[in-house]
Amino acid sequence: MKPTALALLMLATYTCANAEDIIISTDNTGLVYNIADNGRVYQKYFGKKLSNPSDYATIPNGPEIYITGGMEDYYEPALQINHADGNKSTLLTYTGHKTTTLPDGAQQTVISLTDKAYGDNVDVYFIAYPAQDIIKTYTVISNGENKPIEVEKYASSILHFANGDYYLTQFNGDWASEVNASETKLEYGKKQLDSKLGTRADMFCSPFFQLGLDSPADENSGELLVGTLGWTGNFRFTFEVDHKGELRVISGINPEASRRTLAKGESFTTPEFIFTLSDEGRGKASRNFHDWARNYQVYKGNDTRMTLLNNWEATYFDFDEEKLIKLIGEAKELGVDMFLLDDGWFANKYPRHSDTQGLGDWQETRDKLPNGIKALTEAAKKNGVKFGIWIEPEMVNPKSELYEQHKDWVITLPNRDEYYFRNQLVLDLSNPKVQDYVFSVVDNLMTKYPDIAFFKWDCNSPITNIYSNYEKMNQDHLYVDYVKGLYNVLERIQKKYPDLMMMMCSGGGGRSDYEGLKYFTEFWPSDNTDPIERLYIQWGYSQIFPVKTQCAHVTTWNNSTPVKFRTNVAMMGKLGFDIKLDDMSKEDADYCRRAIKNYNSFKPIILEGDQYRLVSPYEGNHAATMYVGKNDGDAVLFTFDIYPRYKQNISKSEAQVVMNGLNPKARYRVTETDRHDGNDQTIGEYSGEYLMTVGLPLFTLNRLNSRVFSIKKI
Ligand code: DGJ
Repeated sequence: MKPTALALLMLATYTCANAEDIIISTDNTGLVYNIADNGRVYQKYFGKKLSNPSDYATIPNGPEIYITGGMEDYYEPALQINHADGNKSTLLTYTGHKTTTLPDGAQQTVISLTDKAYGDNVDVYFIAYPAQDIIKTYTVISNGENKPIEVEKYASSILHFANGDYYLTQFNGDWASEVNASETKLEYGKKQLDSKLGTRADMFCSPFFQLGLDSPADENSGELLVGTLGWTGNFRFTFEVDHKGELRVISGINPEASRRTLAKGESFTTPEFIFTLSDEGRGKASRNFHDWARNYQVYKGNDTRMTLLNNWEATYFDFDEEKLIKLIGEAKELGVDMFLLDDGWFANKYPRHSDTQGLGDWQETRDKLPNGIKALTEAAKKNGVKFGIWIEPEMVNPKSELYEQHKDWVITLPNRDEYYFRNQLVLDLSNPKVQDYVFSVVDNLMTKYPDIAFFKWDCNSPITNIYSNYEKMNQDHLYVDYVKGLYNVLERIQKKYPDLMMMMCSGGGGRSDYEGLKYFTEFWPSDNTDPIERLYIQWGYSQIFPVKTQCAHVTTWNNSTPVKFRTNVAMMGKLGFDIKLDDMSKEDADYCRRAIKNYNSFKPIILEGDQYRLVSPYEGNHAATMYVGKNDGDAVLFTFDIYPRYKQNISKSEAQVVMNGLNPKARYRVTETDRHDGNDQTIGEYSGEYLMTVGLPLFTLNRLNSRVFSIKKI
């Protein structure tokens, strides 16, 4: 890998390195800072790790570690402080640094800086995970002055690059069309990816990016930075190319309408920016993230996940106890682990028969569920399946008893008409009383029904009518305090109910970020479950999230696709069903039962193994992804034929699926399994080298055709 060292292109704009380098490294990456003679700290190197640390010494310094506003830099700063005397400048110099090994084995380096003129302090944290090549970084900003300060910009990270070209891949879309990938070359000036939705990071723009260095990134080759912010709220990534062609990447909370006032002695901790540098393309970067996430970040990251039957698309709001108990029976018949009751089970004064009312009133609707949730948890127990339940505790319908009793808990403008997103408003989680209430929604349910094993936690509205009754004259704190309030509630739930598994849902993929995943075991990537769309959506999320966190359900969206095709797409994630067995032919229902068994047998490979994206749906008519078990294990391959044109031929090379991740020296038996007719078919025996060099002709010209192959070592 060519070093991303700024140094090689740097002119003598910056002071020269002195003896002291601070080296942050993983197995393959080095990030080096230098304490210069003037006491300021500069990034001198970011690239492939050099095996001899003293080799970093000769590299000249690049730009500053945490560029501050009001000084000699002409581009976007990472930090902007407005001091009480009206001065807007900050100059940070080194006061110390410390490297420690954390209990989980990660290496933490803290570089401490101070502004001598004002006494404000900034600690820059780096936490390196050597084997996964992941680094997390954030800052702690402290007011050392006698008066309050306003922190106008407070990035988590600023990284500097001096490559020839930069190619940015972003992931954006809308509800039901999340994470569409597109790549653009960055030129002089600023490009920002951000969101201002308040309760979630994403609806239009996902909080992660890929940055090809020198050339566009490929799946298996090329150097790229992949980064994401762990923050379940407004984020901003700024990519700014300056007049010298150098790039800075600034990541953090979106400072828009979020100026932070810090009282004397107060500190603010920014969220973690998490990144990896790969010299083997997007595939390697994704696997770095997947491994790290399972081992260090996602709640119960190394535990398996439950298959389920959800009733949302099977019934929507139209259900009663009898219908649900029948579905619980179907869950057992299908062979899934859990039944998940969705929206529509609560409220009495304004029963939740549609999304127009009832949100906030978390008591069972008496005429739908006369025997309460208890009858359902008992039915689940009788059928040997677990029971999960949907809640949306941060929200309220104006037509609800909660709204009537606690209008002061609602985020709403006191002097304007209310504006509703999905007929609802957001509760003010900056208020500790509201935090207690949201916690009590889960706590009350768990106390009454301790057999609840799972929550689907929904959040269907961004913050609208942006005004907090609690923050009063400090409205700029609302967006950030909302998210901190949410984490406070989630922390309490996790502490009291450590066995609970929870799905993070936000009307589709709105909530999909790594801080949220510290509390949730999985997330709902999109309300769009059309399997063709899901091929793209799952491809997008897999760039950064392991498949065990991505719920994938078989539904009736686009039921012109065979049920096997729908199921095979969902088997590539955390499999669930949201469909009535009664609506299927006997053959399809039999197929589904067998597919769940197959999935269970492949689960350790799919959920814990290494994912290799082989053929992108973006490239045309086919798609293929494979999963290889850890420690040189067996593999599973999924292939999809999507839209062949009328009379189209398939060339030999187009039909060929070249595999990845196998042991070239081992021999494998390839068998087509999970067939609709239930009969496995042997394809042949091959060396790993053959499968990864020549491949097999597995794509066909059959429209909407999907195939699953077991690749077993012999
Ligand atoms: C939006 C979610 O994404 C759906 O899966 C479903 O739970 C509905 N909300 C229920 O209102």
